[in-house]
Amino acid sequence: MAADLRTRLGNFELPNPILTASGCAGGGREIAQFFDVSKIGAVVTKSVMLAPRAGRPTPRMAETPSGMLNSIGLQGPGIDAFLRRDLPWLLSRGARAVVSIAGSTVEEYAELAARLSDAAGVTAIEVNISCPNVEHRGQVFACDPAAAGAVTEAVRGRARYDIPVFAKLSPDVTDIVAIARACVLAGADGLSMINTLLGMAIDIDTMRPVLAGITGGLSGPAIRPVAVRCVWQVREALPDVPIIGMGGVRTGRDALEMILAGASMVSVGTTIFHDPSACMRVLRELDEELAQRGVERVADVVGLAHEPRAAARRRLTGNVL
Ligand SMILES: Cc1cc2nc3c(=O)[nH]c(=O)nc-3n(C[C@H](O)[C@H](O)[C@H](O)COP(=O)(O)O)c2cc1C
Repeated sequence: MAADLRTRLGNFELPNPILTASGCAGGGREIAQFFDVSKIGAVVTKSVMLAPRAGRPTPRMAETPSGMLNSIGLQGPGIDAFLRRDLPWLLSRGARAVVSIAGSTVEEYAELAARLSDAAGVTAIEVNISCPNVEHRGQVFACDPAAAGAVTEAVRGRARYDIPVFAKLSPDVTDIVAIARACVLAGADGLSMINTLLGMAIDIDTMRPVLAGITGGLSGPAIRPVAVRCVWQVREALPDVPIIGMGGVRTGRDALEMILAGASMVSVGTTIFHDPSACMRVLRELDEELAQRGVERVADVVGLAHEPRAAARRRLTGNVL
């Protein structure tokens, strides 16, 4: 690597800022046949719940222009199987594990955080708050500052002190900064954004919704400008809070755009489905993009797009701008 890509995640130092996005690489095994998973910053695992879940009926994926819709519905083995099987496997490969959790009540999230804190080797917890709150008429936690804050506070309260807690935000809100602020005030060490946008497709031949679950989460390049906007707005309001940026990242250029907007780490999701080694390619390309611009340390360009040109020039040593 030409540039210094080391990135801080709480007390940990990641070798580089490229991560998988939750739900797009399972527990890491799926992509390990394509590249060495210890070479990327971290594997963010699929959101795990307390109990095993079957997920939603099929069809649950649909291609859309520059993106896709999914309504997988948090299918998974539950926390016991995850701790017995998936986490030890990732650690045995030398990978860093960011564990994504999901629940339907605040207590479920707290319980998951406690269970993960008893296990060794969890680099960070990412809290997927884009789930319906069964105790509050099914309202999605991520769409309400009080609920988002309540989950974050409960997780932070039960997670071991040295495990960073990142709240993962939904773009389907009027004011993402309000949700971000609520999570940070509740103790989040960082924020991940964005989760998928709620979308829908109708098959005009059958005249029925394409997905069995009717609506689904839109992801892929189509959502990248929305993701960049969200990262930008939150960085502008909360400049000291670390951000894992994601949404449609396909190339090293896309990753650099996300970093310039304010992300210090970048997750790659949908792209993995057609290019399983995408994380390694994005990492290589990001390194090349930085080298071409004379950037020595990736940390130097995090949020750089917010700074006036002259200040940005001073921050960099090379002849970049
Ligand atoms: C098939 C699929 C499954 C996903 N599962 C999860 C999940 O379990 N937990 C979660 O927080 N996000 C999940 N996501 C959202 C991604 O982590 C990511 O936030 C989103 O897709 C935007 O990034 P991308 O455009 O690079 O995919 C899923 C996305 C897809 C496409």
